[in-house]
Amino acid sequence: MKDVQVEVEIRALRKEIEKHDELYYRQADPEISDQAYDQLKRDLEALEAAHPEWASGDSPTMRVGDDLVEGFESYVHRQPMMSLDNTYSKDEFYAFVERVEKALEFDSVAFVVEPKIDGVAVSITYENGKLVRAVTRGNGTEGDDITANALFIDELPGELKGTGLPEIIEIRGEIYMRNDEFDRINAERRAAGLDEFKNPRNLAAGTVKMLDRNEVARRKLNIVLYGLGFCQPEMVSAQSEFNQTLTDWGFPVGERIWKVRGADEAWQAINELDSLRDQFPYPTDGAVVKTDRLDQQDQLGKTSKAPRWAIAFKFAAEQAETILEGITLQVGRTGVLTPVAELRPTQLAGTTVSRATLHNQEEMQRKDVRIGDSVIVEKAGEIIPAVIRVVFEKRPSDSLPFVFPESCPECGAPTQKLEGEVALRCVNAECPAQIKGRLQHFASRQCMDIEGLGEAVVDQLVECSLVSNISDIYRLTYDQIASLEKFAEKSAQNLMAAIEQSKTKELWRLLHGLGVPQVGATAAKDLAKHFGSVASLREADVETLVEIDGIGEKTAQGIVAYFKSEANASIVESLFELGMSPTAPEMIDRSEAIFEGMSFVITGTLPTMKRDEAKALIESKGGKVAGSVSKKTTFLLAGESAGSKLTKAESLGVEVLSEADLFDKIEKGKSS
Ligand code: IVH
Repeated sequence: MKDVQVEVEIRALRKEIEKHDELYYRQADPEISDQAYDQLKRDLEALEAAHPEWASGDSPTMRVGDDLVEGFESYVHRQPMMSLDNTYSKDEFYAFVERVEKALEFDSVAFVVEPKIDGVAVSITYENGKLVRAVTRGNGTEGDDITANALFIDELPGELKGTGLPEIIEIRGEIYMRNDEFDRINAERRAAGLDEFKNPRNLAAGTVKMLDRNEVARRKLNIVLYGLGFCQPEMVSAQSEFNQTLTDWGFPVGERIWKVRGADEAWQAINELDSLRDQFPYPTDGAVVKTDRLDQQDQLGKTSKAPRWAIAFKFAAEQAETILEGITLQVGRTGVLTPVAELRPTQLAGTTVSRATLHNQEEMQRKDVRIGDSVIVEKAGEIIPAVIRVVFEKRPSDSLPFVFPESCPECGAPTQKLEGEVALRCVNAECPAQIKGRLQHFASRQCMDIEGLGEAVVDQLVECSLVSNISDIYRLTYDQIASLEKFAEKSAQNLMAAIEQSKTKELWRLLHGLGVPQVGATAAKDLAKHFGSVASLREADVETLVEIDGIGEKTAQGIVAYFKSEANASIVESLFELGMSPTAPEMIDRSEAIFEGMSFVITGTLPTMKRDEAKALIESKGGKVAGSVSKKTTFLLAGESAGSKLTKAESLGVEVLSEADLFDKIEKGKSS
């Protein structure tokens, strides 16, 4: 690869991973499987390792995911919450054990093997035996204070049992939702005509981050504790001992925990866990193997984001073989025809699967999937199953390649491949499937988040000709909504209220919801910050748009073309006539952007500001704040008891600022 190709590839991977981080950690609504995500991270790690000149402290490979959201107080962990290195391969697992044994100069090291629970990481602080706080992992350094929600978890003791309790202890664990509770909630939503949740992990993550306490109380959450954070005074010397202490104190711990010595025993335990985990009350996606003795853990140390004394062995997604009985085509909001596999129903990861995604035409042709084939399907992380490959040996001799139709299966209009694109589209903007898609997108959680306006309701509204574009949503009357199937008085009122409330949501939500080609949530946020209103975005030309960090040529052209279309312009105008009044973000005043293009890292305790205040201040002046120091760091803002970041900055020759220096720079910036 040429240098520029590497650069482009690294940028693209970072952006892609950041998008999935946002979906997984903040929105609790991932689009891809954990395995696909782990693969992206590995690809990026490999590229960064081969091209250290492109390594960067704020690459997603260097930090843990970030789940911080608005609406919660943030709280700094006494001891950071790290993530875990993971592997899917036996060889890599053995290599991990070998590294540990070599570093400790010790054969048959003792390990603990525990289930890896697929939930939401949380840190619970007890002071003198009393629960005082529950905090999410956040960015690893600080998390959201979710104490009020955690108190609804029956299994979480408010007070610890026993004597000789520590003064302060942070205990780490995982909040999850049981499958039966997940099914119960979805059944209720189905009956109410609301969209169903995708899987228990997302629902647990979403619930933990809800501000509506009544709703949290209605959803039953559970917890498992497995880790020691800060503890004063220190009182245990091994993970196995800590697990026992947790049990004595009254906490639920891993369903089965193995104490083993050496790689072979550990490997055996991992396999045993795999055969048992179906019976556990929570979803598990792997085994966590931890060096048992804490002194050995200390000796092994950690990297910037994960301990060297532990590893997660992840179980590959479950697969099954079945017959592809048909291929249907779904027409999305942009008209793209997406092939869907209609399968002979088969059991997979505890559920019956009868449909799977074939992703897109190109992917389907690459895999040469044909009707009648035996195919391998996979369900990863309980997201939509996918067709992985064809079992060619079993292909019927008379099978033929699938031919994509010349007309749209939904509206009959001609299909077309646009220049430079691989996907086949329905070209009729009035196609009912496209209309429904656009409305669903607009109302979805990633956009205007109109509760109660899900797929089923949108379908009815379009079929009864009550709405045909997004502005029509704001013309709906109570009587019209109440006339829909399954709508009781209360739910009609709720939907009316949700529609009304959406008018003042954040601007980026509206920009994302409009469905401008190429503009996803991230670009929408960049645009909202930069322009502050739809009106000024409409006036921007391509040259102005490409100047903005994160907006490329193609996106810029998409935006300009979108507003040029008379149909779009009139929908946007109607929206505003009907009372749309989005909340503008705090805009950066360009004349104040004295730190534009500069990257800061903050460390230690500052004399007057909290770290997040300093971050907000720097960002308000156009600067970026990263988590760790690299060659690209412009300034290290250091307070009292700054540690390794200061040493690193000094060794790289990065200029170090005190809080006073920072204030000086801002003052000077103003006068210049
Ligand atoms: S120990 C220093 N033990 O998996 C890291 N983590 O992918 C200590 N997890 O962030 C983590 N089950 O949220 C540990 N038995 C277990 C776990 C577990 C689930 C989560 C945890 C961690 C993530 C890493």
